[in-house]
Amino acid sequence: MKTEKADWEGKRGDKWNDSLSQMEAMLRPINKPLIELLNLKHSCSVADIGCGGGQTALEVYSHAPEGTKVYGFDISSKLIESANSNLAHKSEHLVYTVCDVAKSMPKPNAFDKLYSRFGVMFFAQPEQAFLNLSEWLVPGGEVVFAVWDSPQRNPWIRIVKEVVGQLVNIPTMDPDLPGPFRYSNKEVFFKILSKSGFRKLQVKDWTESIQIGGGLNAKNASEFAIASFGIAEHLFESGNEAVNEGKLRLEKEFQKYEKAGKVTLKASVLFFTGIV
Ligand SMILES: C[S@@+](CC[C@H](N)C(=O)[O-])C[C@H]1O[C@@H](n2cnc3c(N)ncnc32)[C@H](O)[C@@H]1O
Repeated sequence: MKTEKADWEGKRGDKWNDSLSQMEAMLRPINKPLIELLNLKHSCSVADIGCGGGQTALEVYSHAPEGTKVYGFDISSKLIESANSNLAHKSEHLVYTVCDVAKSMPKPNAFDKLYSRFGVMFFAQPEQAFLNLSEWLVPGGEVVFAVWDSPQRNPWIRIVKEVVGQLVNIPTMDPDLPGPFRYSNKEVFFKILSKSGFRKLQVKDWTESIQIGGGLNAKNASEFAIASFGIAEHLFESGNEAVNEGKLRLEKEFQKYEKAGKVTLKASVLFFTGIV
């Protein structure tokens, strides 16, 4: 069986890295509400969990009061390499490190705040990872975790799934396994977080438009989604014919949502907040 480390360090991490600039451009609208919830009023020490190519950490850093230190952690060495190479200047106040947060610990009580944009749903060992994270925070330290709401509330991915499902059989996802919608059930996530020592838990719904690939037309958005969304991997398992047919059908669907040459669709995110 493939482990999460191999998956994100290997094929999955490489795939995310290959489409990094378009993925990050597409997800950029999530940074604003996340940064608001981080409530960065005084200089402090902040950790980005599953920081990927580092776009969010960079934005958090540029919005934070002077003296703030932002540390990005990710299991994928390739993504950490990209995050570092995207930095215009090296700074000891913005540092990216390869780290499996379920296994390693920088230091207990190391951070005042900790957040993740879509990293925490992919932990292979969630209990261990969340327990570690709660220990990384100083007493009273705060968390903000952005996770996807259900596919029904996320047409940007639901449409892709429907097209793939017309062509190949998609096995039913076990909701307990790593995946983008794992914590779309609020009660499930509240339970894990409170078991790991997080308190005063709250959740805020956020629904806005996002642009596929950060502003691509229907043809390019279809190419991008088939090449980079995990759900489209089922097409590749069935061969070129399925892939090409998938691209055509998806382009047709995306045309319905193309505005000024950009495929624009609704996305819903749940922001979980709490303290230790
Ligand atoms: C969907 S990507 C999101 C990346 C980034 N936060 C963003 O929004 O662009 C999920 C990230 O979580 C990372 N990840 C998964 N499991 C991890 C773990 N146990 N420790 C650290 N990072 C992990 C992956 O390598 C990947 O970069």
